[in-house]
Amino acid sequence: MSRVDERFGPATRPLRGSLAVPGDKSISHRAALLGAMSEGTVRIEGYLRSADTLATLEAVSALGAHVSRERDAVIVEGVGLRGVREPRAPIDVRNAGTLLRLLPGWLAGQEERSFTLDGDASIRRRPVDRIIAPLEQMGATISAAGGRTAPLTVYGGKLRGIRYTLPMASAQVKSAVLLAGLLAEGPTVVAEPAPSRDHTERMLLAMGAQVRRHGGRVTITPAGPLQARDLFVPGDPSSAAFWVAAALLVPGSALHIRPVAANWTRCGFIAIARRMGAAIEGELEQPSAQLRASEPASALEVAHGPLHGTTVAPGEVPLAIDELPLVALLGCFAEGETVVTGAAELRVKESDRIATVVEGLRALGGEIEGTEDGFVVRGGGGLRGGVLAAHGDHRLAMLGAIAGLASREGVEVIGMEAAAVSYPGFATDLARLTR
Ligand code: S3P
Repeated sequence: MSRVDERFGPATRPLRGSLAVPGDKSISHRAALLGAMSEGTVRIEGYLRSADTLATLEAVSALGAHVSRERDAVIVEGVGLRGVREPRAPIDVRNAGTLLRLLPGWLAGQEERSFTLDGDASIRRRPVDRIIAPLEQMGATISAAGGRTAPLTVYGGKLRGIRYTLPMASAQVKSAVLLAGLLAEGPTVVAEPAPSRDHTERMLLAMGAQVRRHGGRVTITPAGPLQARDLFVPGDPSSAAFWVAAALLVPGSALHIRPVAANWTRCGFIAIARRMGAAIEGELEQPSAQLRASEPASALEVAHGPLHGTTVAPGEVPLAIDELPLVALLGCFAEGETVVTGAAELRVKESDRIATVVEGLRALGGEIEGTEDGFVVRGGGGLRGGVLAAHGDHRLAMLGAIAGLASREGVEVIGMEAAAVSYPGFATDLARLTR
């Protein structure tokens, strides 16, 4: 994709009106994968059509699933848990970390077959040793560059269930182990240090798998095939978060965002913003020990207002991990200090998001400092504006655009094309809201 540099803002008038954001990225990846693992036909409404989630459709096609479209829906005809075809060429995950980490969980159990996964330059920097360790304990063999990064090759094997304690709160690693657990002999138990998004568990439950949550552990017990059923993908709260931030920062704004996923494991950003003084209405799911099969959704109403700084505790980090760059942006406009700790995982996202957010906001006049596992923002001064480099990171590109609206002089984003990874219509939606 060729590079696109684009200038945004400052906003000349308030953002008003209503918009719908595209389907949730995490749920879309899982719907395509679990549909492919099922025996039967899964109809997915609301599937996100972005670079990342199209890579997942291509991957499951290469593995033998049949993918088609019917008006707005994506239809996946599965190959069953063990019916994967060995593809002729390596699987190209492009920029999709979720695909890179989840798919090997399924492939690990395909006996006597091997699969190579590779992707773009950013994917080749992202650690996969975190999935290699548990999947090898279960009986697969996996090789990776330096033992740590893509390209990686999964040699499927006969799997046995394990008890595994995640070294970090990662939904991707948890999901990889649970998917492998479906094909293993005996139950698999995954313990997490803090709750992370639980879309895999919910969808597995909805498709008839024996999965349950108890305390900080999830247990999966293999039991027959995954039952095909229709799936619905709600709007992506991580995409909606950009509009929430825009409405909070541009004076006079009031936006209605049509229903987005309100699963409590995805609501951390709204909770943090509310604590900063934001007026955001919406019916968010309450945290619950009990695992649910459904994915709730809620519309959001958000209006501009003054913000004050806050401290984000490590336990909140997994519930807001992809929105922490926006917490930094809000922090620049909030009275007092905004502090994020316990977020070292940001360093292994599509970019090193501690380094790129700090560099990016500083270049616009923000007072922010990086720490080993987070950042500290001294707020109140807002942003002057300037040039922000997206570093090939979709969330950085969109952060730059929203920063531009809120800034005094506007922001030029270098590499705006990266937004297509999760939100291809972002610039069009922005133009409509600011027209
Ligand atoms: C995701 C989990 C998170 C998140 C990523 C999507 C998922 O990553 O940052 O954007 O769909 O499971 P980790 O599980 O590595 O924290």
